[in-house]
Amino acid sequence: MTYVVATINLKGGVGKTTTTAALAEMMSGEFGQRVLLVDLDPQTNLTMMMIGERRWGELDARNLTLASLFERAASAAGSDFHFDISTIIERAVSPLRKVSTVDLVPSSLRLIGLQEKIGASGDATGVLLRALKPVLDQYDYILIDCPPNLETITLNGLRCSDAYIIPTIPDVMSTYGIGPVQQRIAQFGERWGKPIVELGVVVTKYRKASTVHRNTVEDLNRRRDIAMVFPSFIPEANQIAAAAEYTDFGTLRNKYGAEGQFTALRDLAQDFMATTKVRLGWA
Ligand SMILES: Nc1ncnc2c1ncn2[C@@H]1O[C@H](COP(=O)(O)OP(=O)(O)O)[C@@H](O)[C@H]1O
Ligand SMILES: [Mg+2]
Repeated sequence: MTYVVATINLKGGVGKTTTTAALAEMMSGEFGQRVLLVDLDPQTNLTMMMIGERRWGELDARNLTLASLFERAASAAGSDFHFDISTIIERAVSPLRKVSTVDLVPSSLRLIGLQEKIGASGDATGVLLRALKPVLDQYDYILIDCPPNLETITLNGLRCSDAYIIPTIPDVMSTYGIGPVQQRIAQFGERWGKPIVELGVVVTKYRKASTVHRNTVEDLNRRRDIAMVFPSFIPEANQIAAAAEYTDFGTLRNKYGAEGQFTALRDLAQDFMATTKVRLGWA
C-alpha cells in the first residue's frame, strides 16, 4: 500500500516545500521508508533543494522533467498515450549518508506555459495519475509538493492524492486560506468520486517567543473544522532555512540543526506516518 499525500496551501512562503523535503528525508533516513517526491511547482524549489541547480539544468536541457509528461499530454490532445515516468525519476537523490531511499520527479519552469495547453485536452487532471500508476508499489509514500494555486497541474497532484497536509505559519494572514483550501479539495474529491483526506495542519516557522504564534496555535487547536494540528511544530531556525541549499550536510542533524530542529522534524515524520496509517488504513 502506497500513501500519496499532497502538501498544499494557497499561500506561498509558508514552508510547504521545506516540510515536504524534511518529511521525505526523515522518513527515509530514520524510518527506512521508500519515498518518491514529485515537484509540481514550476518554481522548482524542491528540485533545487534535492538535486541542486547544476544537475537540474542538465536534466531540463534534456527535457527529463515533469514538463515532458505534460508536453506529451498536450500534444496528444485527449487521445491515449503511453509515458514511462521512470525515465524522469531521479533515484536516491539525497546526499545524506543515511538517506538512501528518496527519489524525485523534477520540475521545470516550462510547466507555466503548459498549464493552458493541458487544460484544453481530454482528461486534463488525470495525466499524472495515469503516469504514476505503474511505479506506485515501488514506494511507501509519494509526497507531492504543490504550487500555491488550484490550476490544472495542481489538480493533477490532488487527483493522485489519498490525503493532504496544510503547512502554515501560525499567523493571521497565513491561516486565512485554510478553510477555502479544505472546501475546494472536498469539492474535487466529490467530482472525482474519491475522498481526499485532510490529515491536518503542520505549524511551520514557529517562534515560541511570539504571542501571535502562540495564540494562533491555540486558535487552530480549538477549530473544529481542522482534522488536527500536528503536535510537533517546525521551529523557525536559520539552519532549516540553510537546509534549502544543495550541499552534502552529511547527516540529518547537521542539515536541519541539532538544537531541537532535528527532533521536531523527526517527531513530525513519525506522527505523519502514524496519522496516514490511522486515517487511510493499510489495504
Ligand atoms: N522552519 C523554518 N525556519 C526558517 N526558514 C524557513 C523555515 N521553513 C522554511 N523556511 C524558509 O522560508 C522560505 C519559504 O519556505 P518554502 O518551504 O519554500 O515555502 P513554500 O513552499 O510554502 O513557498 C524559504 O526560503 C525557506 O528556506
Ligand atoms: Mg514551495
